[in-house]
Amino acid sequence: MWQLLLPTALVLTAFSGIGAGLEKAVVTLYPQWVRVLEKDSVTLRCQGTFSPGDNSTKWFHNESLISHQDANYFIQSASVKDSGTYRCQTALSTLSDPVRLDVHMGWLLLQTTKWQFQEEDPIHLRCHSWENKPVHKVTYLQNGKGRKYFHNNSEFLIPKATHKDSGSYFCRGLIGYNNKSSPSLHIIIGDRTSPSTFPPWHQIIFCLLIGLLFAVDTVLYFSVQRGLQSSVADYEEPDLHWSKELQDK
Ligand SMILES: *[C@@H]1O[C@H](CO)[C@@H](O)[C@H](O)[C@H]1NC(C)=O
Ligand SMILES: *[C@@H]1O[C@H](CO)[C@@H](O)[C@H](O)[C@H]1NC(C)=O
Repeated sequence: MWQLLLPTALVLTAFSGIGAGLEKAVVTLYPQWVRVLEKDSVTLRCQGTFSPGDNSTKWFHNESLISHQDANYFIQSASVKDSGTYRCQTALSTLSDPVRLDVHMGWLLLQTTKWQFQEEDPIHLRCHSWENKPVHKVTYLQNGKGRKYFHNNSEFLIPKATHKDSGSYFCRGLIGYNNKSSPSLHIIIGDRTSPSTFPPWHQIIFCLLIGLLFAVDTVLYFSVQRGLQSSVADYEEPDLHWSKELQDK
């Protein structure tokens, strides 16, 4: 049996090597909000592996290379043109997935930390005012109904999202004596069992190949065993006997 296991082990090693190349870089936002208002500051941080000779970072905004080369990309005063997707890459890491940042104009903005939510995810909501002006009597509304009220402005956290949390959200409150509302934001809670992102195809193919190898191994094992049982005299060369038997069929 070990004769059959050896090639399997070799193939396994070869395949896991393919997946093991360079790590993907990751873009993170500080603060964590994916939607901001004009004049907000936000830092995009690139986490990746640097080489000793090259500690520069490549940044892409809406898929075009920008001149910034530091691992931290600081936007001091956001404007609408800063909206879009950001990707980064370092010497020893591959291009990151895109991170989308939207810059809005207005008095109030309902901020979130993600574009897509799944069941059991925490949902952080923030009723953010332009230039952080004080807001009072803040209501977070879901599908037109008040869901949470704060006399003084505060973040609203839904610790574990369920499908009931899907819907259209906005917040409103008083800035001075002015009653202001944020634009609405549609939140959809996806299923955990059917992820909304693409499955990693190379992993699926890898698993299928392993399954196939295992099946082939099993068939071979039983063929050899049957060969051994049918003729004890050929014990010295079971492989030979087996291939001969196959040819005979
Ligand atoms: C703001 O206006 C809405 C109706 O447009 C009202 O229901 C709400 O109570 C007002 N909010 C405050 C804090 O006065
Ligand atoms: C809201 O903030 C004010 C001062 O900014 C404070 O005096 C008041 O107690 C706070 N109210 C609540 C309900 O936390």
